[in-house]
Amino acid sequence: MEPFSYHAFVCTQEKAEGVPCCATAGSFSVLGALHGALGKQGLADEVQVSSCGCLGICDSGPVMVVYPEGIWYTKLTPADVPEVVASHFKDGKKVARLERSDSAEMKAEMFDHHNKYLAMLKGKDAAGVLPDDVNEMIRGFMPSRAVLTALELDVFTAVGKGGTAQQVAGKIQAAVRATEMLLNALVSLNLLEKRDGVYSNTAVSARFLAEGTPDTARAAQLHIANVWKRWSTLTEAVKAGSSVVQRNEDGWVKTFIAAMDHTARGRARAVAHAAGVKGAKRQLDHGGGSGAN
Ligand code: FES
Repeated sequence: MEPFSYHAFVCTQEKAEGVPCCATAGSFSVLGALHGALGKQGLADEVQVSSCGCLGICDSGPVMVVYPEGIWYTKLTPADVPEVVASHFKDGKKVARLERSDSAEMKAEMFDHHNKYLAMLKGKDAAGVLPDDVNEMIRGFMPSRAVLTALELDVFTAVGKGGTAQQVAGKIQAAVRATEMLLNALVSLNLLEKRDGVYSNTAVSARFLAEGTPDTARAAQLHIANVWKRWSTLTEAVKAGSSVVQRNEDGWVKTFIAAMDHTARGRARAVAHAAGVKGAKRQLDHGGGSGAN
């Protein structure tokens, strides 16, 4: 007996720049829309949603496979999701216009994709190219730096319910072109959405990264921006055998307290929720504390 009526796998595989994949085709937005639509239809407990790696038909992304029937939906957009939820998950009728059912062709495409992938790995190895995972490790700071800069400039609050690059740049008092590049980077990190030149927060960034919400973590995460400055001098610190950073005590202490306060509050809320203490979250949000977050 299955614990759920349906199990939907959404491919969120990311690949090197220029290589087609579901992530760049928008699968994270589809995933977000799916969770939202299932919640709205009261089906969140009936449909298990899992993100997954490459399903082998990358040119048809974003791809979602639904079991038990094994229906392959391809080239999905967030706008398609409410129809899939209402028709397939609620009424049990697949959405034929979004289904890819040419199984033989799909299988051939998957094999071809797999063989090309193996050939590429072999070719790279023979050519002495740095392995992808090591390359990614070395560049791993880039997404983090983009988010920290956005937090320092309070970009998510400035984006609010939506704005163009020019409007956001005006609010954070920054150069328009550079702001646009940062906003685009945040879109690729799935922390903003962009439609017709207008940027808006995702559910996660609106809740956790913008100011003025009960769960905002911005002030606390600014501590990590301070930690970043120290980590950036690691080379010199290793040579010298001690820290080489003159730290700004005021800024450091303020963000450190905010981070500790946020962590303690989060743990207390989690414990209170687990114990079913009614009103605990509200009390922790408004009842005393340092107010640092
Ligand atoms: S990246 Fe999604 S099917 Fe290959």
